[in-house]
Amino acid sequence: MSGQFNFSGQNVFVAGGSSGINLGIADAFARAGARVAILSRSAERVAAAVKSLRGHGREVLGCTGDVREAPVVAAAFEQVHTAFGPIDVVVSGAAGNFVAPAVGMSANGFKTVVDIDLLGTFNVLRASHGWLRKPGASLINISAPQAFVPMPMQAHVCAAKAGVDMLTRVLAMEWGPEGVRVNSIVPGPIDGTEGMQRLTPTEAARSAVMAAVPLRRFGTIDAVANVVLMLCSPVCDYVTGVVLPVDGGASLAGPGLFNSGMTGA
Ligand code: HXC
Ligand code: NAP
Repeated sequence: MSGQFNFSGQNVFVAGGSSGINLGIADAFARAGARVAILSRSAERVAAAVKSLRGHGREVLGCTGDVREAPVVAAAFEQVHTAFGPIDVVVSGAAGNFVAPAVGMSANGFKTVVDIDLLGTFNVLRASHGWLRKPGASLINISAPQAFVPMPMQAHVCAAKAGVDMLTRVLAMEWGPEGVRVNSIVPGPIDGTEGMQRLTPTEAARSAVMAAVPLRRFGTIDAVANVVLMLCSPVCDYVTGVVLPVDGGASLAGPGLFNSGMTGA
């Protein structure tokens, strides 16, 4: 079991679950007894993640596909429902990022990140709806501080993740009457991840960001996973439509959390 949470007999779908924070969330659910399915693009990375998740002795399904393609996402949910039955938890965490000023970004560069993060999250939640356990399902969108902290060099991510959080609130209203909860988790700077590698590639950048975090340290993948499991557990069964930071207070630091790291400012 993963800590105090027991998800035995439950079915969990993690979009973007082959690496980093999302894989950590999938792993925590498997440790807590759930059947787990993941969906990401690279077949090689999906296979490696499935192998490691199976180490916990649960049923694990790996789907390969791009969240930008609605029919592909729909087919993945149908496959998981056929294998496992009604889906109790959906985590939408597939995302892309690169560091560039708006003028250094083509329309396609901006669109690429918006399509992965925002359209991809719409596709995942929309496709999940017909296969969810109702009442009872819990949906988690993985947001980022960029959703409410304006960050230079992150116009695409800021716009996309702000949209993700609004989608969380709208779907919490639309699907609440069916007993489906929808919430966002906002990880802060999380150590050992692709996201932080891209945003703080140097030791100086790391230190500058850490100095701006009230708790003065980076978070762990487990710290994020623990809160996701808590939100999906009966402890939080009256919580829906919230956007919950797991960030050591980073979102209190105000605009430009990553400025000094990325722009030298
Ligand atoms: C300017 C860039 C660029 C860069 C790509 N593009 N990198 N523009 N600066 N550094 C442009 C390309 O030129 C192209 O536009 C368009 O973006 C699409 O590029 P592709 O490589 O064809 O896209 P694709 O293969 O779909 O890959 C998407 C990606 C890639 C986002 C560019 O990096 C990726 O797959 N990332 C997934 C992993 C990842 O990013 N993980 C971090 C998540 S962290 P043109 O006009 O040339 O066609 C996160 C937030 C972290 O989300 C928050 C921390 C606090
Ligand atoms: P990561 O390891 O790069 O994880 C991204 C995952 O999404 C990978 O499994 C990737 O696999 C998948 N993915 C990307 N594009 C996809 C697509 N088009 N279709 C399907 N899958 C796709 O990044 P991470 O740093 O752990 O970030 C995970 C999540 O946390 C993201 O939502 C990110 O915005 C959020 N976040 C991270 C941090 C941080 O500190 N790292 C902070 C705040 C928020 P493939 O490339 O094989 O598809």
